[in-house]
Amino acid sequence: MKVLGIETSCDETAAAVVTGARTILSNEVHSQLDDHRPYGGVVPEVAARAHLEAIQPIVRSAMEKAALEYSDLDAVAATAGPGLIGGVLVGVMTAKAIASVHKIPFIAVNHLEGHALTVRLTGDEQGKPIAFPYLLLLVSGGHCQLLIVEGPGQYKRLGTTIDDALGEAFDKSAKMMGLGYPGGPTVERFALNGNPDRFDLPRPLRKRPGCDFSFSGLKTKVRQTIESLPPGPVSEQDKSDLCASFQKAAGDVLADRCANAIDMFLKRHPNGQTLVVAGGVAANLELRQRLSSVAANRGLTLVAPPVHLCTDNAAMIAWAGVERLKLGHSDPLTFRPRPRWPLDPDAAPATGAGVKA
Ligand code: KG4
Ligand code: ZN
Repeated sequence: MKVLGIETSCDETAAAVVTGARTILSNEVHSQLDDHRPYGGVVPEVAARAHLEAIQPIVRSAMEKAALEYSDLDAVAATAGPGLIGGVLVGVMTAKAIASVHKIPFIAVNHLEGHALTVRLTGDEQGKPIAFPYLLLLVSGGHCQLLIVEGPGQYKRLGTTIDDALGEAFDKSAKMMGLGYPGGPTVERFALNGNPDRFDLPRPLRKRPGCDFSFSGLKTKVRQTIESLPPGPVSEQDKSDLCASFQKAAGDVLADRCANAIDMFLKRHPNGQTLVVAGGVAANLELRQRLSSVAANRGLTLVAPPVHLCTDNAAMIAWAGVERLKLGHSDPLTFRPRPRWPLDPDAAPATGAGVKA
């Protein structure tokens, strides 16, 4: 089985081909970072136009690197939400056109399901496949959720952020320190040389029951801390110390919330074995270490995708397509993209969560 995947929901234009036997035949990513950097964040109109320019060469290149003709494909999958609608439309229309011309199934993939199932493509440290069910911490620029993954399309949400996503808090804090966009990787790098105990930052919701998240207070305290420093640009050492303190606070919150979630997961699935972390923030190695020890303390193993498959990519979309196709699912060409598309439609919206629930 071979599936072409297309991802255009945010600021990466990506196409990939993966097989039903968990092989990535090609994985092309065109990042729009340079287009958005001057604005310090993703500008939806700029993104949509850039996707339109990049999509055809990227798809062609993914097919060439996989050494395949369209007639060799079993299906074409595209992110159909959630995300910036202009970009999503570009990917979905491209996939529908390919499906229509080459008479192959079209699969509308939930971007979050792409992140959620990536570990089933990449496996554990030895490359062994990951079985359902598992507990998932999904942490990206737009989402921060804990979910039980019981199968493709089968999710039970245990908690979500009531304000900002963690990636967003990384990005906004980085911006306040003058570290540029995206903030996550830079904060991680600066934190390596910093003192994590220099600044006293809050750990919102820690020790509270449940597993919701809140990061806006942490972000506000970063701003206040910067304002309390001597006027002028923040010094390199202050940046490093603040990044290290921020990352430690974020790690403490994730560890606390995940511990509660593991207890809830094991109540529902007493033989559950795996905590998975996915999404852009899962690229952070210090946070992975924290999560790894929380998991181990409760008898679980932490599994994360390789760093380059944590941030947005199309291999994860193609793989979600494989999983759906194996179950006999595909979608009509009339499928309408969904800018909002929760993985667990039964979960009640979190108070104050706005569009991020
Ligand atoms: O999954 P992703 O590529 O896009 C969304 O679906 O949101 O995640 C992007 C987010 C950004 O907020 C970025 O700052 C964050 O992931 N990120 C990181 C790291 N690498 C990317 N955050 C912390 N540490 C990192 N190393
Ligand atoms: Zn993503």
